[in-house]
Amino acid sequence: MTRLRQLPAWQNLQDHYEQICNTHLREWFAEDPLRFKKFSLKQSSILLDYSKNRITEETRTLLVALAKQSGLREHIDALFSGGLVNTTEQRPALHTALRNVGGGPVLVDGKDVMPAVRQQLAKMRTFVDDIYTGNWRGYNGQAITDVVNIGIGGSDLGPVMVTEALKPYRMPRGVKVHFMSNVDGSHVVDILNHVQPETTLFIIASKSFTTQESLSNALTVRRWMQDRLSHPDQLAQHFVAVTADRDKAMEFGLPEENIFEFWDWVGGRYSLWSAVGLSVALYLGMDNFEELLAGAHEMDEHFRQAPFEENMPVLMGLLGIWYSNFFGSQTHAILPYDQHLHRFSAYFQQGDMESNGKSVTRDGEAVDYTTGPIIWGETGTNGQHAYFQLLHQGTRPISADFIAPVKTYYPINDHQTILIANFFAQTRALMMGKTQTEVRAELQAEGLSEAEIDRLAPHKVLEGNRPTNTVLIDKLTPRSLGSLIALYEHKIFVQGTIWQINPFDQWGVEFGKRTTSEVLKALSGEGEEMKDSDASTRELMAYYRENS
Ligand code: F6P
Repeated sequence: MTRLRQLPAWQNLQDHYEQICNTHLREWFAEDPLRFKKFSLKQSSILLDYSKNRITEETRTLLVALAKQSGLREHIDALFSGGLVNTTEQRPALHTALRNVGGGPVLVDGKDVMPAVRQQLAKMRTFVDDIYTGNWRGYNGQAITDVVNIGIGGSDLGPVMVTEALKPYRMPRGVKVHFMSNVDGSHVVDILNHVQPETTLFIIASKSFTTQESLSNALTVRRWMQDRLSHPDQLAQHFVAVTADRDKAMEFGLPEENIFEFWDWVGGRYSLWSAVGLSVALYLGMDNFEELLAGAHEMDEHFRQAPFEENMPVLMGLLGIWYSNFFGSQTHAILPYDQHLHRFSAYFQQGDMESNGKSVTRDGEAVDYTTGPIIWGETGTNGQHAYFQLLHQGTRPISADFIAPVKTYYPINDHQTILIANFFAQTRALMMGKTQTEVRAELQAEGLSEAEIDRLAPHKVLEGNRPTNTVLIDKLTPRSLGSLIALYEHKIFVQGTIWQINPFDQWGVEFGKRTTSEVLKALSGEGEEMKDSDASTRELMAYYRENS
């Protein structure tokens, strides 16, 4: 594999960057009234306006050349066809198969996995029906009213984000959903204090069924339930499991019919589309869950087939490369102007940073360039009263995606117009900035003295030229949300491919888990005192023991 910086397209981009890096977006908008038309794209009820990026048509051509020289086409084909794209674990990454419900066969080890995918979906649908028809009841015959998902990372963040985003689609008189993820007792107790054992179903969602937080929480909850049951068999009425390790779930004490399976060729942070989405299906109903899948599938087909110049995930991925690797940007903000999308950025903190937070190539070589960005962001307009000052006048180059739905579910007064006015105004202000001349004229018009203007003007200048993408969704529905999530999944894949890293493993977090079990043993008095550990850890443990 030719190293990334040795690719001709990389050098061409470096030269091109030198040529345009000082050009202001104001100039490009002034000289080309068709700029929006040239740099915008509509797909799956999503409009991407990428015209407020520091690019020209030549930039796009050179970026697309980089994608092609990076073998992106071949990697996309491998992704969808079950190629071993998870190179270190020698596995496919077939989250796309989970939403290929009406599609053709997808082979893993020569076997079509689609029948098993459809079988699990059918099992989910039957289960959801049983809960709502009352076929499935609690130990004293009462209907289930609350569902608690016990999981963390990819076994939590997706269901949380989707159920929050699609609140308007929740089942009428449907179950309430709760998400228990942190091992912190306050998280566990907060939830247990708000549900009744008789009417609560617990979903233990864990691909490995070994994650310490999820198992600790599951064991605590099982004890909490057992204290209330008259017979151990009644546990099965209140626990189901979603896992890739059926044996471990059965060891926990669950009968096979209570276990929903997914497979090792589905990455945890890409597993929302599997039975990990069971809490979503219970909350929204199975039809809406399948609409979510359909939306993702629509974006999959676009990603697979559209030429790179008109390919939304490819363009968003390449723009991220442009800022990370040529403008020196370290972070990327995802800013949803929709309160229901308040967990969207958090979801893609794992999705992006656990995928591309890598520094060794697929060939095992240390990279000599920047890879995955720090992903952050909260909803607008709140962010405007928190970190927008830094976005406007800070010293760091930061790219940002502004996301909003055109239609709201809550047409109360003129709130949506005010929200969208802010949304459009911020990307314009970040792009335009405000020159010294404009600032002085403004202050003169306010009647300030020349001395006052000299004093104040430097502080009110905004350099602008701060790049943003605008992502406008017609309406936030299960289908459009599915497309939006898949858009970001594929953008991450595009970047991982070009950075020549494996976006589908996560060895870094394994080390943290092992260190935790060592410290836990020492703190619980079950292991040696970690005498050879660093003084900080040793002293902190001693302090904790003395003061807890
Ligand atoms: O963060 C590490 C990780 O393995 C994630 O990739 C995964 O989503 C999470 O922990 C939970 O893992 P599991 O679903 O196996 O409990």
